[in-house]
Formats: sequence, C-alpha cells, structure tokens
Amino acid sequence: MNYQHILDDIYKASILQPKIGKVASYIPELSEINPNKLGISLTTINGENFSIGDSEERFSIQSISKVLSLTLAISLLGEKIWERVGVEPSGTAFNSLVQLEYEKGIPRNPFINAGAIVIADILVSHLKNPKEDFLSFIRVSSGIRTINFDESVAISEKNSGFRNAALANFLKSFGNLQNDVDEVLDFYFHQCAISMSCRELTQAFYFFANEGISQSGKQIINKSQVKRMNALMQTCGFYDESGEFTFRVGLPGKSGVGGGIVALLPKQFIVSTWSPRLNSNGNSELGMYVLEELTTKTGMSIF
Ligand code: DON
Repeated sequence: MNYQHILDDIYKASILQPKIGKVASYIPELSEINPNKLGISLTTINGENFSIGDSEERFSIQSISKVLSLTLAISLLGEKIWERVGVEPSGTAFNSLVQLEYEKGIPRNPFINAGAIVIADILVSHLKNPKEDFLSFIRVSSGIRTINFDESVAISEKNSGFRNAALANFLKSFGNLQNDVDEVLDFYFHQCAISMSCRELTQAFYFFANEGISQSGKQIINKSQVKRMNALMQTCGFYDESGEFTFRVGLPGKSGVGGGIVALLPKQFIVSTWSPRLNSNGNSELGMYVLEELTTKTGMSIF
C-alpha cells in the first residue's frame, strides 16, 4: 500500500473542498487559530510514518484527551469505573445537560463532557499529583517527553466554562463527584488543553492498534481493555455523529473541538487529521472528509 501517495492525493483534493464549518469560539483562545490549517499523519503498525501539510504543528487536542484519561482510569481501577459512567452512545450534544437529569447523574458514556468530568474526578482521587501524573502517563505511552499543557487554553476555558461548571455541580448534586468541583474542573480543563501534533497523536494512540503495547514495547493496558476502548471510540467517539462517522469512515476514533481527529485500524495503522473548521456537532468537517477518502481509497476499515 503506497500510503504517501494516497495521502498526497487526498490532501490535494481536500484543499479544494468548500470551506464549510466554523472554528470553535466558545473557548476564546481556540478562536484565534487559522481555520485553513490542514495536517494528516499516518503511522503503520511497523512504525513507518507518512505525513503531509501541518502535521508537525501542535494544536489543542481537547476531547481527544478523554480517550487517554479513560485509559489511565481503566488501568488504575479496571471494571469498577462502570459503576459511575455508562457505555451507550448519548445521541445528544457533547455538552448536553438534559440527559444527566433523566438518568440521575450517571453520564451515558465517558466521552461526553459529563462522563469525562466523572473520569477526571476518579483520576483526581487516585493520582498523587493528578495533572503531572496524567502528563507523564501520556509522555511514557507516546514516547514524547515534551508533551505539555497550553496554560493559556486552560485558563481561557476556565474563564468561559460555565456549562462544564454546571455539569460538575449537577454531578455533585447526584453524589457522582467525590472531589471539590473546582479541583476536578481544573484537572479537566488542563487535560483538554494538552497540545499535540497529528504525528504525535498517531504515536500516542499506537497502543490501541497494537493490543495495548506502545511503540517502545510497554504494555499500557491489556488486550481486553483495548477492545473496550476501541468499541467506545467506535460507538461514542463523535457524540451524536458517531453513527455518521462509522457509516462514512468505518474506524474507531475520537474528535476534539480543536479540530483534531485520531482514528485507527487495529494491527494496521493509526491516522490523525487536523482542520479547525467544525460542523454543528463539534467535529472537524474536513477531517471527516479526509478519513472517509482514506478508507475508500485504501479499501481498509474494520467493516
Ligand atoms: O469541555 C469542552 O467543552 C472542551 N474542553 C472539549 C469539548 C470537545 O472537544 C468536544 N469535541 N468535539
């Protein structure tokens, strides 16, 4: 398979696509990003990398971090976490409040904001230095020592994160948040404010395509836990557009409002895109196009 040739073709076609969608503006710092950025990076299971465009430039990974926080929580607590968060697609927006009321404070899944805030609470309870320990988990599993928070993005979201504050307080009222609301939100805003490039994301997500073993040979989670993580990415990774992503692309993956997407085909490759224009569900419009083209042109998807 000539991946570089395929990525080059997709890139050329992508920059000619109509410029649909809007850069996230509810986190003020994210609205400053150049909407025309486009990066694509693919790492094969053999460790070869193929990239094009702005694939080395770091951006705010936002909700993509929820996959990594869940992975760390699963590795610390195992199946116990499912007492506090579900595994069903929500069918509602990522920051929706209504479902939480009907379902008595148990978020539908760990990737909507309510669910990720519960996972953040679990990590705050179980890590000695939550923010530093989470960073070092990502540094070790990706093999990239320089990964860090973008403090200005974290502060920007803290100053405008009224919905997340509402969700955290709501969870607390149902008894599904054990720590101080501000402490949990501080952790959550920082995890979302991690900066990584497309290429780095393919390295950080390598173990999901390799039965839990990182590129440096470290077992991060076991085979059965990887199956669960990939299943959740497939069914819940794109919020109320998870069905559409599965239908068009056919890979497990996760998006973020910074415009990033990471997706993978077990035993084959990990691919990441960055294009900041988002559709109305908060997913990168062009990123979805790129990934649909990739699975169409290669004929490779999980289905
Ligand atoms: O909590 C928020 O709203 C953001 N920090 C993350 C949301 C997000 O990335 C949704 N993804 N498409």
